[in-house]
Amino acid sequence: ETQSRLVAVSNRVGPLSDEGQAGGLVVGLSDALKRHGGLWFGWSGETSAEGTQSREKTEVQENVEMTTIDLTEEELKGFYLDYANRSLWPLLHYRLDLAEFDRASDRIYRNVNHRFAVRLMPHLREGDLVWVHDYHFFYMGSELRQAGYKGRLGYFLHIPFCSPEVFSALPASHDIVRAMLAYDLVGFQTERDRRNFVNFCTGELGGEELDEERLRVGDRTVITRAFPIGIDAEAYARFAVSPEAGEHEEMLRDISRRRGAPEGEEGGRKLIVGVDRMDYSKGLLERFYGFERLLEDYPENRGNAIFLQVAPLSRSEVDAYADLRHQLEHTAGHLNGRFATLDWTPLQMMTRGFTRKALAGIYRAARVCLVTPLRDGMNLVAKEFVAAQDPDDPGVLVLSRFAGALAELKGGCITVNPYNTDDVAAALQKGLTMPLEERKRRWQVMREAVFTGTAQHWCQTFLDRLEASHDEAGGTG
Ligand code: G6P
Repeated sequence: ETQSRLVAVSNRVGPLSDEGQAGGLVVGLSDALKRHGGLWFGWSGETSAEGTQSREKTEVQENVEMTTIDLTEEELKGFYLDYANRSLWPLLHYRLDLAEFDRASDRIYRNVNHRFAVRLMPHLREGDLVWVHDYHFFYMGSELRQAGYKGRLGYFLHIPFCSPEVFSALPASHDIVRAMLAYDLVGFQTERDRRNFVNFCTGELGGEELDEERLRVGDRTVITRAFPIGIDAEAYARFAVSPEAGEHEEMLRDISRRRGAPEGEEGGRKLIVGVDRMDYSKGLLERFYGFERLLEDYPENRGNAIFLQVAPLSRSEVDAYADLRHQLEHTAGHLNGRFATLDWTPLQMMTRGFTRKALAGIYRAARVCLVTPLRDGMNLVAKEFVAAQDPDDPGVLVLSRFAGALAELKGGCITVNPYNTDDVAAALQKGLTMPLEERKRRWQVMREAVFTGTAQHWCQTFLDRLEASHDEAGGTG
């Protein structure tokens, strides 16, 4: 275990606790930091007139110190809403049709990266390992170098890195990738993402692959590698048997009991669950169509299957998200109107959030978990679902071929192409009717992967590589 202090930088910081709804970054990073300790630096989640000049807020939880600063309204819009979420997010998720580019937000994004670097500098000590996270801070490394930081510097991208064909549409694509070369180590979720990045460097910037990890571009050498993120699987498995989880599991067993039917499996309707931030990358609409096709083509499920979609609102100020919400509400209403009976509502969509413990109970009550992103860096819902299962009666995971998690879970999940409605319906039918022995066998394979590729493991392998990287990477000119 490394002795150096870890300094993590990300836009969202904390909480370490189980409260509220979190994206994959906060889940993975807080699970890792709880074990490792260190400083976590980023945005407070608030705006003020002072913005990035504001006083720091510090909160210490366990062995993690969380220090944050504000944004101004203008910074929030230019940096977070426009550049990060209207330009970079859709682009990196292959949605050029939704990506908007403008120079005002480009300028503000670079400046916010600069400001965060300036504010972080006084915190840095000799021997620290600085680890920057995600698409909000592509320029942070080069800004830290310009401010004089000489220590070890790593970066991890939590979302996909798209193919160079798509990435090169970004006006600042060269600037961003050149800035990323300031890091000693650049990590990706999967080998596919790493490949896309390397191909951009060789194809667009005249870079050269020196070996399996080292890449030279001009006078810079960086190390690139895939480090799939995970969860604290043991802690999550304990969540799943907590009283809070138990209550939620019970509630679902109650609502899925047929009227007048006896207790137990015989009288129950089978439950399908989905849990996602309401984001167009998650394939929610396609998933609803898949469920509708299930009811059309396999009519024995009418009255007998319930699909529960938890979809907490996300980034609602961005048009594409507001549009998606309308489409989902329309489609869910249409589906229910068409199939519902007096005592059965096929699809329930909820925009409220649940704690991770409550979700663990929901996962445990489900026969099938439906995870069908059109693109996803990793997808930790898939891993949490696996960790939450009852070993004696595990559920089935239906997973998109476009989720990063597929690389580790393909031996046990049912893989689908989310764009293929028939394929999704057939996978659901297979999951709903799968015999117990096969469910157990498949779950064992996935359990192994989730309990091996944990958040702690992700963090430790990244930091070990970062500690060793400094001598190998760096300027060669
Ligand atoms: C993804 C990103 C995170 C982000 C999260 C929630 O997981 O990788 O960086 O924090 O989504 O999105 P939000 O915009 O609310 O932070």
